[in-house]
Amino acid sequence: MVIFQSMLSVLLKSVIVISLLVFPSLAQLAPSESRILLQVQELLEYPPVLQSWTNWTNFCYIPPTPSLTLVCQGSHVTELTVIGNRTNPSSLGSSPARMNFVASHQSLSPKFSIDLFFTVLTKLSSLKVLKLVSLGLWGPLPAKINRFWSLQVLNMTANLISGTVPPEIVLLTNLRSLVLAGNLLQGSVPDLRNLKGLHVLDVSSNFLGPQIPSLGNTLVNITLRNNTFRSQLPPELFKNSRSLRRLDLSYNELSGQFPSSLLSLSSIQYLNLAGNKLMGALPMNQKCSDGLAFVDLSFNLLSGKLPMCLKSNSSNRVVIYSWNCLSIPASKNQQHPSSFCHQKALAVKPTEKTHKQQASKGKLGLFLGVAGATIGALGALSLIIFAIIRRVRSRRAERNSSEVSDSHKASARLLVEARNLSPVMRLAVHGLPPYRVLHLEEIEEATDNFNQSNVLGGSQGDELYRGRLRDGSKVVVRCFKLRQRHSVQNLSQHMEVISKFRHRHLVSALGHCIDILEDHPNSVNTVFLVFEYVSNGTLRSHLDDSRRQGVVKWPQRLSIAIGIAKGIQFLHTAIAPGSTGNDLKIEHVLLDENLTPKISGYSLRLPSMVGSESNRSGEDLLDHLSSSEDGEKQDIYQLGVILVELITGKPIASQSELDVERIQLEQSLAAAPSSLRSAADPSIHGSYAYESLRTAAEITINCLSKDAAKRPTIEDVLWNLQYSVQVQDGWTVSGENPVARS
Ligand SMILES: *[C@@H]1O[C@H](CO)[C@@H](O)[C@H](O)[C@H]1NC(C)=O
Ligand SMILES: *[C@@H]1O[C@H](CO)[C@@H](O)[C@H](O)[C@H]1NC(C)=O
Ligand SMILES: *[C@@H]1O[C@H](CO)[C@@H](O)[C@H](O)[C@H]1NC(C)=O
Ligand SMILES: *[C@@H]1O[C@H](CO)[C@@H](O)[C@H](O)[C@H]1NC(C)=O
Ligand SMILES: *[C@@H]1O[C@H](CO)[C@@H](O)[C@H](O)[C@H]1NC(C)=O
Ligand SMILES: *[C@@H]1O[C@H](CO)[C@@H](O)[C@H](O)[C@H]1NC(C)=O
Repeated sequence: MVIFQSMLSVLLKSVIVISLLVFPSLAQLAPSESRILLQVQELLEYPPVLQSWTNWTNFCYIPPTPSLTLVCQGSHVTELTVIGNRTNPSSLGSSPARMNFVASHQSLSPKFSIDLFFTVLTKLSSLKVLKLVSLGLWGPLPAKINRFWSLQVLNMTANLISGTVPPEIVLLTNLRSLVLAGNLLQGSVPDLRNLKGLHVLDVSSNFLGPQIPSLGNTLVNITLRNNTFRSQLPPELFKNSRSLRRLDLSYNELSGQFPSSLLSLSSIQYLNLAGNKLMGALPMNQKCSDGLAFVDLSFNLLSGKLPMCLKSNSSNRVVIYSWNCLSIPASKNQQHPSSFCHQKALAVKPTEKTHKQQASKGKLGLFLGVAGATIGALGALSLIIFAIIRRVRSRRAERNSSEVSDSHKASARLLVEARNLSPVMRLAVHGLPPYRVLHLEEIEEATDNFNQSNVLGGSQGDELYRGRLRDGSKVVVRCFKLRQRHSVQNLSQHMEVISKFRHRHLVSALGHCIDILEDHPNSVNTVFLVFEYVSNGTLRSHLDDSRRQGVVKWPQRLSIAIGIAKGIQFLHTAIAPGSTGNDLKIEHVLLDENLTPKISGYSLRLPSMVGSESNRSGEDLLDHLSSSEDGEKQDIYQLGVILVELITGKPIASQSELDVERIQLEQSLAAAPSSLRSAADPSIHGSYAYESLRTAAEITINCLSKDAAKRPTIEDVLWNLQYSVQVQDGWTVSGENPVARS
């Protein structure tokens, strides 16, 4: 009886199990999807694992094996797992030089087109799980991968996929697991914080780097092992990751301090940082999370002693710390000798390394100016942005090394400061999409493959294109060919600085794309900078007769003036040292649809470069920028010129015209109110409170002071303009008859 019962229960269980297995497959696959699968078989060049597929195969009934699983739901394929026998690229050697097609029996034939392959595959629009492992896929991942809108698991381990990880991957919003391990990917990993459901990321054994990617807090399992991540690890790395259980950063070239807070992350179980260049001592009182079962710190340059919780193996924790520079008697013969440690510590100092690279290549002097100009088109004005990146040629071969390393320190400081933007400054970028690194394909798409009809200007090797991103936003793309190759890392640092100069009142960079040379994966020859497109023409055009139909009255002019002043304040103070000597002109002030002013033509002076170039002369592009204080005062003067134009409405083309206007304004301030009225633009008559205009005119005159030292600071200017607004507001609210007053 008992035996019978247990037999029955076994039988029942197996019935349930069988029906669970079979049920989802009962469906008949849509004929179109069957055709797609046969096409996939063909495009994959009939791998052994798919040998049995014919046009008679009922795909939903194929029994799953470890190397082939097909799951149907309704009449659609929801899972496709194909594991081939074309093994890992590791056998090809680890040289990233073989980035593109590698002719070997490990890869699909030269005829294979990954683009076509994904065009076909993405028609399986219900796919939730896609695993294509060891199939010899080669070529760059196409951007259209984002068409798999329901994809949850993507595993493309051990293929020969090259190029960068396409930023479009972040549009796969259902993605939970992203595995691209063992390919030939290079460059930076896009910011994955938008993938809110991502739990597993494994990009190990590629050539990715140098920056550790930005990852969200939902990740549980992160494997970045065996790449070329070279950055320093910020101390607060993964600080808010409550769910992170497994972190593998081993075998990269990470430098700087070991971020010891990783040891106490609430869910951490496995931590592997072996084989990097981490230095310094860990804090003795550092706590380890209770669940931490494995820590590997071996093959680094850590020194001092270890915190208590890492001192030794215990029943529930394995700790590996051999081959560091630790002073732990028990492991003395498994640590490097101090002479080695000393030498290595010097060698990995980033200053030294970069300096040598730069000196040998000829220095990259990067001066970025973004200048606006206008082009008439069908009566509308469109914007051109000039971003001038210029390499300043190295004059002398030999170079004083302390000078260079100083300048490098300055650049390191700048970068640190740029990272630590105050909350106020972060607010400043409100309204702009986050800065991002774009994929070359996105640039190509935006400019319609650099179609001539989209050229806005520029010269050969330095063109400007009008473009439209996939989200519909209009942009201006500047394509700049560097005359000489530069290291990706070096250029990325500059891009990082550029990415911080974003403000509501600046024509701001939205992103960039660095085109990495295929045969020299660490060098660059083209940079694309993408800027917002400001649609409503220049401020000048709004003050001109043709446009003045009641558009820009005094209150609007005041708020435009304040916007410009805030933009200048940001340039001077947001990031130390600020950007000064910005060649401010009314033609460089652009307006958007809401008449919000945005300054173009500002310059980004990169101190690391300028510092080292300071004792040059002649054609030097940077000569007109004297000290930053002079530059500040020069900006104030130029703001004064713009204010004169806002008040008088007259275009000012020369110093003598300016002098005439300034003197007239100055005299009218001393005379009766009617005198100022006659100096002001007739088209603002009736719209201003006298006191408001007077305050603005006074600060304008001060800005134009011949003696630079007497010119006000930008804060003074802002204060006065804001006072002027208050007076104006009070006047408007009290309902005084504008006509009677002015
Ligand atoms: C099966 O498909 C192949 C091409 O894919 C075709 O040549 C063949 O005629 C088909 N067989 C039948 C019976 O439809
Ligand atoms: C894969 O397996 C097939 C058949 O088993 C064999 O002919 C082929 O050489 C294998 N390919 C590789 C790259 O090992
Ligand atoms: C790193 O990746 C390369 C190539 O992908 C491979 O040959 C090598 O064995 C890997 N090394 C480690 C330590 O995983
Ligand atoms: C991806 O697929 C490979 C091969 O089947 C497997 O070994 C690996 O565990 C998978 N990765 C994840 C995270 O599922
Ligand atoms: C995390 O990912 C690695 C590599 O993909 C895998 O070997 C490991 O089993 C995963 N661990 C967990 C807890 O998911
Ligand atoms: C802990 O155990 C691992 C292997 O289980 C060993 O390699 C390591 O050296 C041990 N660590 C210490 C501190 O004894």
